[in-house]
Amino acid sequence: MKRVAVFASGSGSNLQVLLDKAKNDELGGAVIELVVSDKPEAKAVERAKQAGVPCLALVPKEFADKAAYEERIVRELKQREIDFIVLAGYMRLCGPILLEAYGGRIINLHPSLLPAFPGKDAIGQALAYGVKYTGVTVHFVDEGMDTGPIIAQEPVKIHDHETKEELTRRVQEVEHRLLPQVLIDWVEGRIHVDGRVVIYENRRGSKEPTLQ
Ligand code: GRF
Repeated sequence: MKRVAVFASGSGSNLQVLLDKAKNDELGGAVIELVVSDKPEAKAVERAKQAGVPCLALVPKEFADKAAYEERIVRELKQREIDFIVLAGYMRLCGPILLEAYGGRIINLHPSLLPAFPGKDAIGQALAYGVKYTGVTVHFVDEGMDTGPIIAQEPVKIHDHETKEELTRRVQEVEHRLLPQVLIDWVEGRIHVDGRVVIYENRRGSKEPTLQ
């Protein structure tokens, strides 16, 4: 089994999917051992408590600097022998301390087809730009903003006159399916990185998207 920490800053709907699947024994070789949040008041923290999963909720500005904040996190990760990290709505860039300790072992979920629309409000950015498709990306994390090697992507067609709320709901539906799939395949060794290119062997439950 691989011991996984999930980092979340917000509502934590993706975290909830992972917690539910773990509870139902549907997370393959992954076990969620820790939730980390930079927002103690976030709903994600509440969800971790409800599920009985340990949660490290920190206030970054109470630390001398980013390095000190990340050192505290890395200490906890090491103590709990965490193997892999999933960023699921964690609204901070990973700094050198975290990347040195867990480089190549951190994945992030992003609500666009990267490299389009990195950073905040990717769904709003896609709507404002007028693209006809957006989607979901799961990628490895490097020092950049949503720039690491791409593991999996799935498109979502944008309907005419679609509201941000409606598009967000449809993008999240895809996220809730894609993230657990990728996590299982990752911890079970079916995902390999070759430079920028990720080779994904025998992908489980994959559905080739039909573009209209
Ligand atoms: C998701 O859309 C994810 O792609 C982005 O932040 C959002 C988190 O949603 N990085 P939730 O907190 O899991 O509901």
